[in-house]
Amino acid sequence: MKIGFTETVLRDANQSLIATRMPLSVFEPILEKMDQAGYYSVECWGGATFDSCLRYLDEDPWERLRIIKAKMPNTKLQMLLRGQNLLGYKHYPDDVVRKFVQHSVKNGIDIIRIFDALNDIRNIEVAVDETLKCGAHASGAISYTTSPVHTLAKFAELCKEMQKMGVQSICIKDMAGVMSPKEAYDLVSAIKDKVDLPLVLHTHCTTGLAFMTYLKGIEAGADVIDTSISIFSGGTAQPATETLAYALEQFGYETGLRHDVLKDVNDFFKPYFNECLATGLLDPTVMGTATEALDYKIPGGMLSNLISQLKSQNAMDKFPEVLEETPRVRKDMGYPPLVTPLSQMVGVQAATNVLLGERYKSIGKEIKAYVRGEYGRAPGEIDQELKKKILGDEKPIECRPADLLEPEFEKTKAMLGDRAESDEDVLSYIAFPQVAEKFFADREKKMQNMARYSIEAIE
Ligand code: CO
Repeated sequence: MKIGFTETVLRDANQSLIATRMPLSVFEPILEKMDQAGYYSVECWGGATFDSCLRYLDEDPWERLRIIKAKMPNTKLQMLLRGQNLLGYKHYPDDVVRKFVQHSVKNGIDIIRIFDALNDIRNIEVAVDETLKCGAHASGAISYTTSPVHTLAKFAELCKEMQKMGVQSICIKDMAGVMSPKEAYDLVSAIKDKVDLPLVLHTHCTTGLAFMTYLKGIEAGADVIDTSISIFSGGTAQPATETLAYALEQFGYETGLRHDVLKDVNDFFKPYFNECLATGLLDPTVMGTATEALDYKIPGGMLSNLISQLKSQNAMDKFPEVLEETPRVRKDMGYPPLVTPLSQMVGVQAATNVLLGERYKSIGKEIKAYVRGEYGRAPGEIDQELKKKILGDEKPIECRPADLLEPEFEKTKAMLGDRAESDEDVLSYIAFPQVAEKFFADREKKMQNMARYSIEAIE
């Protein structure tokens, strides 16, 4: 029996521990080595990497991907895609989603993990379809959460629908690190009963459950796990690659991993880890174990947002009340998974309800949009009174939100003209307009400077 390993140091661990600030120049020298490690895949793109490249690192994300591909010809490169939202939180029209997928594959991506925050399958269908058309591997991910409407049967049904769409693997994506060993065992068993596809487990060490969760998930039949090289593992990131390989191999599982290579990879990242600690880029508190998320059923990141919100309003005495109000708001909203941006929306509304001393006296505009159906279908029933209060006589959107959007790619391309040097530039602009605009301008300036230097050199 073989267990595949997806290495996350370049994407999720990088994003979870150091806010995705690892530049290509840091990890480029180790890519050829990583290529020999025997990973099932290396997650290296998507998520926040794209925004971070343009916004903070002065890097073209597409160029980063091409360089990784050139140095890792033997390893499957993986990215995370938020379905119809691509790398952000708003819905993009279908032509943009298709172009984005096409260029991701063309520039080097082999596996696209596609999810929707609400598990509304309509929001992933176009991305899945295009991934398959491009000949890449589409992995359908479910956003893991617990609630009365998120039953094992419902999750298994969702996976079956994704299989019908043509996904080649299923991923259970526990972004908050709250899936327990028992829940993993039961969920993997339930899915494996209904769906004959490779199953990937994704979690974080935040609450300390992750190693056990993976082990029980594997006992129930999971095929692939997401891990990070040990120096950049643990805390809010994934469990350590080497540790899990060590433990699983004793049980007789094959991992396909080369331990000598993993050691070199780990040694390579050690000085950079220390540098991150020294500069403060890495806050040591993210390396600890925080079990509050288990007590309150609220993800760690959301909990710290709530605390800082209350502190800023000098209202920490209301914290217990807000903790009680949060699950009530979530219930009113039909139990959305508490992932970005829904975690923030639910948290802010719960705090507002408590601080104003009256429920839904003031309602955030994102919550209104959600209740109108602009994010997709809620997992459960939205509270009738809340619906009435927000919608009045207006009808919620029943269709897939992107059905209401006009094509955007060609229009944007024409608008950008010379400023976009490629279709990839157009996509960068559509994803993050202001950031991309500034990136293009800086790039132009750099090119002019370079031209000037070369003329001076000739003279
Ligand atoms: Co994650």
